[in-house]
Amino acid sequence: MENIASKTEELQELLAIVSTLTPIEAIRYLTGRFAGKVTFSTSFSYEDQVITHMLADMPVQIFTLDTGRLFKQTYTTWNNTLNNLKVKIAAYYPDAQALQQYITDNGPESFYQSVEMRKACCHIRKVEPLKRALHNNAVWITGLRAAHSPGRDTLEQLEWDATNQIFKYHPLLHWSNEEVKEYIKQYNIPFNILHEQGYVSIGCEPCTRAIKPGEDFRAGRWWWEDNSKKECGLHR
Ligand code: ADX
Ligand code: SF4
Repeated sequence: MENIASKTEELQELLAIVSTLTPIEAIRYLTGRFAGKVTFSTSFSYEDQVITHMLADMPVQIFTLDTGRLFKQTYTTWNNTLNNLKVKIAAYYPDAQALQQYITDNGPESFYQSVEMRKACCHIRKVEPLKRALHNNAVWITGLRAAHSPGRDTLEQLEWDATNQIFKYHPLLHWSNEEVKEYIKQYNIPFNILHEQGYVSIGCEPCTRAIKPGEDFRAGRWWWEDNSKKECGLHR
């Protein structure tokens, strides 16, 4: 109980500070206050590429969760990012035994069978590796934006993630699509070419498709499922 109360207090204090700062200033502040314990997760999306660029020379560990089912274009963006932005990106992988057992029992495309099967795959390929990546950190930076989905437009820039026992900071939460694209263009940052082919939110290849004009931002993710189920466990 005491821990929850003190975290709530600390959260309010931090939120008051970061909400007056630009993303770069806020990240700098957080790296000073939580030295060596700030980490950023990238999926190489437009917004993640902006943040990676902002992190140049900042003491923040960048990591990605390689599910093993990403698009070829995402791997190319990963490689281009290493070459152009000269950053180090730690790769996290699913536990080999858990994955072997799941595929042996259910086959390689069981995620289409039910929400439970799909969430089990997401758990093995994303949620469990995420736990390992966040271990021993105090702040987790993400590329979440309010415009991504209705559930995300009520988020605060800084939250307490009780599951992972970590502060989550979303520097671009209130940026528009146009602002993100403009930044990418201005600094000539490598980006995932799929963004130019109708893919707005990009995850694993078998579970992501392009959206049609007028469709919701996340309509291309797990498109065969009910809207209310469309999270993989990374963010709730
Ligand atoms: S998801 O939960 O639906 O998959 P989304 O694709 O919207 O997430 O991305 C939101 C943020 O989650 C990204 O900006 C990034 O910080 C993090 N994220 C998503 N997928 C990955 C991944 N494979 N590796 C690392 N971070 C990820
Ligand atoms: Fe598995 Fe699809 Fe989840 Fe990727 S998005 S981890 S392939 S269910």
